[in-house]
Amino acid sequence: MDNRPIGVFDSGLGGLTVVKELKKILPHENIVYFGDTGRVPYGNRSRETIRRYAAQDINFLCSHDVKMIVAACGTVSSVLTDKDVKDVSVPYTGVLLPAAQEAAALSDSGRIGVIGTTATVRSGAYGKAIRGIRPEAKVVGRDCPLFVPLVENGLVAPDNEITRLTAKMYLEPFFEEHIDTLILGCTHYPIIYDIIAQVMDYSVTLVDPGQATARYVKGYLMQHGMGSGEDRQGECHYYVSDRTDEFSNIAGIFLGEKVDQNVEYVSVDTL
Ligand code: DGL
Repeated sequence: MDNRPIGVFDSGLGGLTVVKELKKILPHENIVYFGDTGRVPYGNRSRETIRRYAAQDINFLCSHDVKMIVAACGTVSSVLTDKDVKDVSVPYTGVLLPAAQEAAALSDSGRIGVIGTTATVRSGAYGKAIRGIRPEAKVVGRDCPLFVPLVENGLVAPDNEITRLTAKMYLEPFFEEHIDTLILGCTHYPIIYDIIAQVMDYSVTLVDPGQATARYVKGYLMQHGMGSGEDRQGECHYYVSDRTDEFSNIAGIFLGEKVDQNVEYVSVDTL
């Protein structure tokens, strides 16, 4: 048994879609979340900058005595290599491998689409991971850079016309690729799951990295005897690098519950 918290981080709010799934299947676990809202988005930055920010985020979480680190960010998960995380003192996972494994298992045809930030798609990391599991798979990636600002600004209602038209622009070309599975390769995207499903005519299986990653984390903790005691309700503490009130407002949409306590500001200068 290990009662230390799980550390989760993202460039902003997207990682909360992973927190939501963790809370569902690991209700007794404490979580420390860091959202780098002062520096979001990461997805249009260089690999070097993303690696530097991620190293700072990981150090920050380690200073809170976490037992595991989850990079709840498709961009960080795609850019960091095994070498980048080999010195992290606790087990580390990104969202990429759990989502790639799930897509490889769910796809009948092996024709799999991936949407994500520009850095994620440019890295080719999802394709590499999927072909490592299913060498015959055909993986098609497309970056959707407007999705993150739309989500961060709360334009997420299933009937939001601006987000729907944006999704049509990005997703319709996938029909020509005849994919049967689509990975939401950025943790912001599950928030507009309904719009994406609708634009794809409900004809493809959508893989939510939050669900896949939460199942992976649960499996890892159980396998290694690292789960927390079950005699308590887990608590979540949030740190952000910009306005806490703004975070609390939008976090409510992501988590489906109020987040007005347990949110603290941390300056990026101290990371
Ligand atoms: N949630 C991040 C990801 O999964 C957001 C992207 C960004 O910061 O650009 O990639």
